[in-house]
Amino acid sequence: MVKSKVIRKAVIPAAGKGTRLQPLTLAIPKEMLPLGKKPVLEIIVDELLSIGIQEILFVISKDKLSIPSYFENARGLKVNWTIQEHQRGLADAILCSEDFVGDDPFLVALGDSIITPNTIPHPTQKVLDCFAQTNAEAVIIVQSTPKEEVSRYGIVHPKSVGGKWFEIDLLVEKPEPENAPSEYAIAGRYAFDPCVFEYIRNTLPGARDEYQITDSIGLMIEDKKPVWCVPLTGKEIRRDIGTFSSYFEAFTQACLDDPEYGKDYRLLIDMLTRRLG
Ligand code: G1P
Repeated sequence: MVKSKVIRKAVIPAAGKGTRLQPLTLAIPKEMLPLGKKPVLEIIVDELLSIGIQEILFVISKDKLSIPSYFENARGLKVNWTIQEHQRGLADAILCSEDFVGDDPFLVALGDSIITPNTIPHPTQKVLDCFAQTNAEAVIIVQSTPKEEVSRYGIVHPKSVGGKWFEIDLLVEKPEPENAPSEYAIAGRYAFDPCVFEYIRNTLPGARDEYQITDSIGLMIEDKKPVWCVPLTGKEIRRDIGTFSSYFEAFTQACLDDPEYGKDYRLLIDMLTRRLG
């Protein structure tokens, strides 16, 4: 059977507890916090629709049923959802999507990360292009990251650099700076052949004693499955809402970028800064 390289399905893991944003996240799921006029997840769903994704699955926890309700009521969108019973890591969350995915290749978009600018085509389109145009069985978006921050991310090691995308031969979840194999950090968007589920099932608990998708991808590489990375370039940037400071930054940027309110918001920030200064 010839494997399909066209991706039409996406999985959005959004089951995390949002511990670093508590107690706010006891009132509202982290992924539904607003960035300007829209919740984070709506920005991600719009990103996915803009690149031709037709079916979306949310992996949520029991207390986040407000997520599918919002999309059905506010947008009239039919979305699929499934419950991750225990928050045992990203690989475990992705494994919850196995029935939805079936035999099709699929995209994973982390529910707490957005990628800007919101251009057409969106930067995430490059993941689909790389998956379609190479022999990749997994593709990851990566972003250059300062050495002192690498321990927050999964870090990849390119076989060789140059060109718009590159194959990798190693990846490490949350390494200490001295052990990081490069400066390229995994940036929250992946494409997978459905064979990834077999590797997830063989994954042992890793960093933070959780099942890490980084380690599942490492098993694919050990098994000679080609894994490619697409670096973000120019003004393309990943923003997450994991901490209050990264959330405030993402919120401010979304307001500044708003086509209707951006200009006034900039004036407001200037005015407040002057008043304080
Ligand atoms: C996850 C991934 C990590 C990646 C990061 C940002 O980590 O495990 O490899 O670099 O998202 O996309 P987490 O934010 O869950 O700690």
